Amino acid sequence: MSKQRLEGKVAIVTGAASGIGAKTVKTFVENGAFVVIADVNDELGHQVANSIGLEKVSYHHCDVSDEKQVEELVAFTLKKYGTLDIVFSNVGIAGPLSSILEFDLNKFDKTMAVNVRGSAAVIKHAARVMVERKIRGSIICTASVAGSVAGVGGHDYTASKHGLIGLVRATCSELGAYGIRVNSISPYAIATPLACTSMGMEPSEVEAIGIDSANLKGVTLNTTHIAETALFLASDESAYISGHNLVVDGGFSVISSFGK
Ligand SMILES: NC(=O)c1ccc[n+]([C@@H]2O[C@H](COP(=O)([O-])OP(=O)(O)OC[C@H]3O[C@@H](n4cnc5c(N)ncnc54)[C@H](O)[C@@H]3O)[C@@H](O)[C@H]2O)c1
Repeated sequence: MSKQRLEGKVAIVTGAASGIGAKTVKTFVENGAFVVIADVNDELGHQVANSIGLEKVSYHHCDVSDEKQVEELVAFTLKKYGTLDIVFSNVGIAGPLSSILEFDLNKFDKTMAVNVRGSAAVIKHAARVMVERKIRGSIICTASVAGSVAGVGGHDYTASKHGLIGLVRATCSELGAYGIRVNSISPYAIATPLACTSMGMEPSEVEAIGIDSANLKGVTLNTTHIAETALFLASDESAYISGHNLVVDGGFSVISSFGK
């Protein structure tokens, strides 16, 4: 049998109790990795872990906006599996869809605390371990098409995802010296709980809007497409890719709807 793409690697996936994160855990495990599932939704997190098998995955409660909990998550992973090769900092919240004229700066702080500060804490504590132990790791963050274009999410969300892509580029510039890669993935719309709750719609309605607005026809973006992208960025197949924002949007963010 040929070697699996993540054979023996140890990964943390945040926001892994649902949607993109949960699918990525499954994909990483199918490709030979041991994975720590981190989330605030303990019930769903345990369900995901049990459904995959506790010999390959563990659930650990972690609110990424609390640095102490992130530090503990990394310590838990080292104690359980002895190393840390891959981190998928995937947590995100949608934030409100309000006008700038009615902007709630407390809600803005909350969105930034999870989407940007949370990833900063994850990158910090993962990188500390990787640098200290000379691990040439791969760190991947989930951004969004809203990190490159406006008008597809609220102001909070758009600002946070632009900021996250900046954080990925900044940390890639420092961590390259240690052989550590830092990249982001920017998905187009997928009918996960995040998107459905934010839009106040059923999954079928969110999916229909996604299909209608999509540039690339004949394929509907789903969590498997993003999990496969994370697998690529986690594996040696992307050995020289760092600081990259891998947009998975069928061309949505580079075309103009003018005249369509
Ligand atoms: N679904 C989309 O259309 C879409 C598009 C582009 C980018 N994204 C991004 O994908 C990522 C994953 O979202 P998803 O669509 O799979 O949503 P999801 O709602 O299915 O999953 C998000 C998970 O994050 C967890 N979470 C929320 N706050 C947390 C915190 N503070 N600490 C730890 N865990 C927390 C939730 O409990 C949930 O399990 C997010 O960063 C999101 O911004 C989603």
